[in-house]
Amino acid sequence: MKENYMNYMGNTPMVKLTRMVPQSKANIYIKLEGCNPGGSKKARVSYQMILDAEKNGLLKPGTRASLIEPTGGNTGLGLTLMAINRGYDITLVIPDNYSKQNINLLRGYGARVLLSDSTTGSDSHIRLVKEIVSENKNYIWLDQLSNPSNPMAHYNFTGKEILDQVKHIDYFISAVGSGGTITGAGKRLKEANDKTIVVAMQPQGCDILNGVSVPHKIQGASIGLVSSVFDTKIVDQCINVSYSEAVNTARDLVKKEGLYLGISSCANVAVSLKLAETIGEGKTIVVESADFGYQYEDFYKEVFHGTNSASL
Ligand SMILES: Cc1ncc(COP(=O)(O)O)c(C=O)c1O
Repeated sequence: MKENYMNYMGNTPMVKLTRMVPQSKANIYIKLEGCNPGGSKKARVSYQMILDAEKNGLLKPGTRASLIEPTGGNTGLGLTLMAINRGYDITLVIPDNYSKQNINLLRGYGARVLLSDSTTGSDSHIRLVKEIVSENKNYIWLDQLSNPSNPMAHYNFTGKEILDQVKHIDYFISAVGSGGTITGAGKRLKEANDKTIVVAMQPQGCDILNGVSVPHKIQGASIGLVSSVFDTKIVDQCINVSYSEAVNTARDLVKKEGLYLGISSCANVAVSLKLAETIGEGKTIVVESADFGYQYEDFYKEVFHGTNSASL
């Protein structure tokens, strides 16, 4: 038995899609990062960033130092759980069009949540944190967009676990927000097999490698900048996906596979299905799934009841 809930992080399951993919097509495996404490892959990043900051002397447990971070919600959940466990206060800045359930939950956990005006661009939360930090030097911004602990968590753990679970990997598909997952896990997979092709899921109309984003509804992906932790050279291909493709894929994942995944995960799976059509028999695709569907009520309203005419 472990003393602290966060210590149950990692060793997340990998499942194979068995009903959505015809036998003769590729083998598609999904890494279920929603099984982490806090419900997402960002538990790993939060844990690594806080422990590294404590090691470097930037943070001292129990001091109630004030952390601040812009987040779509998942990093916020991971950091808030860590803040509770290690004795810090936390302020999170979230775009006002993001999951209401997450915002309520974070406030319930005791985080201070500020909302940024999403109509001003997909990086509105980042700009607001910059403003706040420039006016108040007491805040400690661990900054997952520039903190090497972010990709390191995925190199040391996510990538290693994937290699332990699937021996030969032809393609690895990930969403790109900070770029931490694709950079860290992608590097680890390529070191093990330099023929592994790393694919970025790209919301339609965006240009991830150049930090160009249009308004889109695939939360957490394509945030309108190339962060300093994102090593764009790791990416071999970007494959476009529309929101309505993510909606259709979500419906199939629930009904055919019993998998209730987050929006970016469904978009990643949509990309894997496109790939499976073209790459030939017997190839293996690993898809990262950042989280489950529980925090995306509006998305699942469209999946189960919607007209599915969304074009973003
Ligand atoms: C749901 C979801 N998908 C994808 C991403 C992108 O992951 P990364 O920041 O590692 O690029 C995030 C990041 O917050 C996320 O919350």
